[in-house]
Amino acid sequence: MKNKYALITGASSGIGLEIAKSLAKRNYNLVLTSRREPLLRKVADELISSFGIEVDYISCDLTDIKAPQLLYDFCKQNAYQIDLLVNNAGYAIPSPFDQTPMEEEEKFIRVLGISVIALCKLFVVEMLKNRQGRIMIISSVAAFAPPSSIQTLYGPIKTFMNRFSEGLNRNYNHKGITSTAVCPGYTITNFHTASGVQKEMDNVPKFMKKEAAQVAEEAVQATLKGKQVCVPTKTFKVIVFLLKIIPHSFFSLVSAVLAPGRFEKK
Ligand SMILES: NC(=O)c1ccc[n+]([C@@H]2O[C@H](COP(=O)([O-])OP(=O)(O)OC[C@H]3O[C@@H](n4cnc5c(N)ncnc54)[C@H](OP(=O)(O)O)[C@@H]3O)[C@@H](O)[C@H]2O)c1
Repeated sequence: MKNKYALITGASSGIGLEIAKSLAKRNYNLVLTSRREPLLRKVADELISSFGIEVDYISCDLTDIKAPQLLYDFCKQNAYQIDLLVNNAGYAIPSPFDQTPMEEEEKFIRVLGISVIALCKLFVVEMLKNRQGRIMIISSVAAFAPPSSIQTLYGPIKTFMNRFSEGLNRNYNHKGITSTAVCPGYTITNFHTASGVQKEMDNVPKFMKKEAAQVAEEAVQATLKGKQVCVPTKTFKVIVFLLKIIPHSFFSLVSAVLAPGRFEKK
């Protein structure tokens, strides 16, 4: 059996890429995955030459029902013992709910929800055998916020992921396995462009726009400590605290003034 590995979904850019660097710094060997193979190859080469760790990659599309099993089999065949599973891949649907075909909603729920559950289901069995394992689920501040008017299912699926992570902790903490729901706020990545909401997000004040490297570093620290929930950066810790105590109608009103386009009724 080779050294311990971390498997990172959505490792080709943004938060996932920074998590890969943060783990490489800590001497983790890595298995990277996303759809864009040339990017994965480039990232793998850079990490190998900068950190001297072992890095492998496999391109796959998490909208494919077979993808989680494919990733699991790839790790098994290569004897990569996954000690840390990072569920990070994600996007948001740019079109309004009533104009989005059901197949698109299903793909979205598969990438952000079902594939996460399937990967946890596969890898938790190995972790149980080893009586140790860390799981990171990249959720969002949206899990705590009122549903946005531009991405109807995004907040709800992230809330579901937080609850799922809680369930994993309830079931497996006493067996040496922890799950950390990481809930970033606005992070500067390709996410908003890829999700077609860059225009609305340009309204977000500068103090609320965080670097992916900082978010990733806090996420990794919290996961390795076995924390249940991590809200990276002080700004968003305060915002999540406020979201828990103030009425959501008031929060929507303040957001509409601070960063219009996301919480108004359309
Ligand atoms: N940026 C923010 O403000 C923010 C805030 C809160 C939470 N988040 C969450 O953070 C996570 C990472 O997003 P990011 O901000 O880093 O955005 P990003 O830069 O767009 O990265 C998204 C990653 O997901 C991968 N991905 C997307 N669709 C996929 C699919 N069908 N199959 C496999 N991989 C797929 C992409 O790779 P390929 O295109 O190569 O497949 C890419 O590596 C997401 O779960 C997002 O919901 C982001």
